[in-house]
Amino acid sequence: MEYSDKYLHLGENIDPDAYVICKYKVKTDLTMKKAAAAIATEQSTGTWTGLTTLHEDLFSRLSGRVIDIRRDTVTVAFPVDDFSLRVGGVPQILSVIAGNLFGLDILKGVRLEDVAFPRSILDAFKGPKFGIEGIRSILKRPEKPLVGAIVKPKIGLSPKETAEYIYEAGMGGLTNGKDDETLVNQRFCPLEDRVVAIAEALDRVKSESNHIMIHAINVSTRGDKILEVADRAQRLGATELMVDVLTCGFAAVQTLAEDPSIKVPIHVHRTMHAAITRNKDHGIAMRPLAKLIRMCGGDALHVGTFGVGKMMGNPREDLETQKVCVEREVGYLPMLSVCSGGVHPSLVTKLIEIAGNDIQIQAGGGVAGHPNGVRAGAAAMAQAVDATFQGIPLSLYARDHKELDIALRRWGSE
Ligand code: 3PG
Ligand code: 3PG
Ligand code: MG
Repeated sequence: MEYSDKYLHLGENIDPDAYVICKYKVKTDLTMKKAAAAIATEQSTGTWTGLTTLHEDLFSRLSGRVIDIRRDTVTVAFPVDDFSLRVGGVPQILSVIAGNLFGLDILKGVRLEDVAFPRSILDAFKGPKFGIEGIRSILKRPEKPLVGAIVKPKIGLSPKETAEYIYEAGMGGLTNGKDDETLVNQRFCPLEDRVVAIAEALDRVKSESNHIMIHAINVSTRGDKILEVADRAQRLGATELMVDVLTCGFAAVQTLAEDPSIKVPIHVHRTMHAAITRNKDHGIAMRPLAKLIRMCGGDALHVGTFGVGKMMGNPREDLETQKVCVEREVGYLPMLSVCSGGVHPSLVTKLIEIAGNDIQIQAGGGVAGHPNGVRAGAAAMAQAVDATFQGIPLSLYARDHKELDIALRRWGSE
């Protein structure tokens, strides 16, 4: 392999408005300079050998530039002209910043840790339509953490049973319900019947208790159908839509978010992300993925449970993802962080202490596993949020909130 030093521009001060700047963690037996040059080469103007067709002016305009190497991390800047936004968009951006390099034999491992986009690229995207404030305003819940349920079992309940579950969860005080990532339109729970039944359940909650709850319907499907499915769901009464972003593709979120006919928030699930994010030496960190999802218009995104729940994760990386959801400089509305996976009332205080109030806490087993059923499980979760919001220890609050008390006995009172 002949990787040229011409791609090295170490220490160069570059104009952040003219480049997409990527940080890669690299594992290699080569020198870091060679490895970094290989990335810049492969992802921009070059290949494994010199080219008779690579003219000097083309090289200087379009080649990736290695601008920094620090221990195992290299920074590569790609000129904005390498990107094709109107036709291309996120799929093309990913092909440049996170494409062939993962398969280069000379790298033992490479992980895209972060990316910074220039204004011209950020401006080509619209970001969330609702975001944190929009969802809070629908729910008339300006400050407290949102607290939700995932319908469990993941699959198998009929539309009527699902709606009953959501009704109970709403009467217990939850603000958000959602389909699970594997439920779309199976025979036992057709999507349209489910939407109608849940819409009725949510109306019942509102009229009986004056409490507002929304529910995200999973509309994940092939690209050419998602808008049609979402539009139909919305017409039948869906109050939120859910997209499995990595299995559907980023365009699925962008298509829905940018279509003027879609008037409800988009909850973004990241099922399969761990195949990409879990290995610390290879793949893509959640942070760049979250940036792209926010650019595409996701209103709420799963960010993990900061090492508290059942899914892998660590507080540092999950906090970095959360930061991406709300950082102001990009100019989009802030996206809501969703904390989900193995959550139950005993963990709520810890989660809020780490992640703050602008989160949606969700529990599946932690609601439907409550010994007294879904309404009690929902109440226990809502009580745990209320207690924490008021700065009251859960064990104290549980003295006169029996659902919470039972939950703490069932799952421990951490
Ligand atoms: C879920 O809500 O389905 C799971 O919690 C998925 O895990 P994640 O929230 O960490 O993506
Ligand atoms: C999942 O699929 O893991 C989530 O929906 C979370 O479910 P849980 O709260 O029962 O872990
Ligand atoms: Mg799930």
